[in-house]
Amino acid sequence: MKILVTGGAGYIGSHTVVELAKAGYSPIIVDDLRCSQEIMLSGLKSILGKKIDHYAIDAASQDLEKVFIDHPDLGGAIHFAAYKAVGESVQQPIKYYENNILATSNLLKLMLKYEVAHYVFSSSCTVYGQPDILPVTETTERKPAQSPYGRTKQICEDLVFDLMQGGAKLAPVLLRYFNPIGAHESAAIGELAIGVPNNLVPFVTQTAAGLREKLTVFGDDYNTPDGSCIRDYIHVTDLARAHVAALEYLQKGGKIQVFNAGTGQGSSVLEILRTFERVNNIKLNYEIGPRRSGDIEKIWANCDLIEKELGWKAQLGLEEALKSAWQWQQTLNAQY
Ligand code: NAD
Ligand code: WQD
Repeated sequence: MKILVTGGAGYIGSHTVVELAKAGYSPIIVDDLRCSQEIMLSGLKSILGKKIDHYAIDAASQDLEKVFIDHPDLGGAIHFAAYKAVGESVQQPIKYYENNILATSNLLKLMLKYEVAHYVFSSSCTVYGQPDILPVTETTERKPAQSPYGRTKQICEDLVFDLMQGGAKLAPVLLRYFNPIGAHESAAIGELAIGVPNNLVPFVTQTAAGLREKLTVFGDDYNTPDGSCIRDYIHVTDLARAHVAALEYLQKGGKIQVFNAGTGQGSSVLEILRTFERVNNIKLNYEIGPRRSGDIEKIWANCDLIEKELGWKAQLGLEEALKSAWQWQQTLNAQY
């Protein structure tokens, strides 16, 4: 079955393409590589032993219709294509509203026109803000978004809720990802941090590789056991498999629309650094710095619903994730 994957050359999208192909699907990538590079496509080819169908087009443009015309037998779409840098979204909100919302409404419009119902969307734990009760469940109240990026995720979720309210012939699953980390076991694909990394783990691997002098831990005075912030870090391969499980759920007629995709375990920044050092036998140069503005103190997921309904549960641990992230950094070092 053919599955359209917008943003399929990106970090989570590329890992999902691998898992889709392994599960017998035929992924069709739409990605103009605005936040990615050719290495991801060649990495996919080396893992899968064949070239994956790829359209280098803007998912927010009219060109997207060509994919629906070329493939009248599409069985669903997984929508990753978006900008994701929280800080940049504060500086350039229009860039985020335009791309993230337009690409989503354009894709959904075409899905309705061509009667492609199965839709899996990359939402984010950012829609919860700092929750009052932990762990967060899918019924935890969404707080007002803390960034334009977060707002685009809420709006894209709301668009789906509005469509369903209006009786649209759509079967959606919104996956609220927690913090994806790690890379494919082959080290042929992984997270490409173009410019200064936005997220912790690429900063860690770049520091370990000597590309950055040191890493700053943003605060050790939070109300957590070691004082640093807590997140639910999920191996990207596990997260990729959740998308395959979501498609299978939709094919069986599943009706629940929102699922948390995390591990159910919180880990602190300092735990991440120490685990990275231990499993890779590397000393990291880091210092404790001030808090980063906008950071929430702690969040982790309750993943009972996704386990019960989709039969999906994270299998891989922090150690595997942090080893694979370092191996991917070696691939990048060799390449650039
Ligand atoms: P990424 O930047 O690696 O991948 C996004 C891909 O989409 C890139 O390859 C980019 O070139 C492509 N793209 C963006 N806009 C496009 C457009 N208009 N047309 C065609 N291609 C376009 O990001 P990622 O980490 O893989 O994230 C994927 C999705 O998951 C995003 O929607 C992101 O908001 C969401 N998400 C990510 C995280 C995270 O921490 N990585 C957490 C929660 C949610
Ligand atoms: C993780 C922890 C930092 C860098 C963001 C988005 C969220 C979602 C996931 C998309 C925090 C600490 C980081 C550094 C540090 N993305 N840190 N030093 O902030 O949990 O979430 O990515 O939807 O929406 O907001 O992820 O990787 O930036 O930070 O101490 O150099 O690492 O303070 O506690 P975050 P992150």
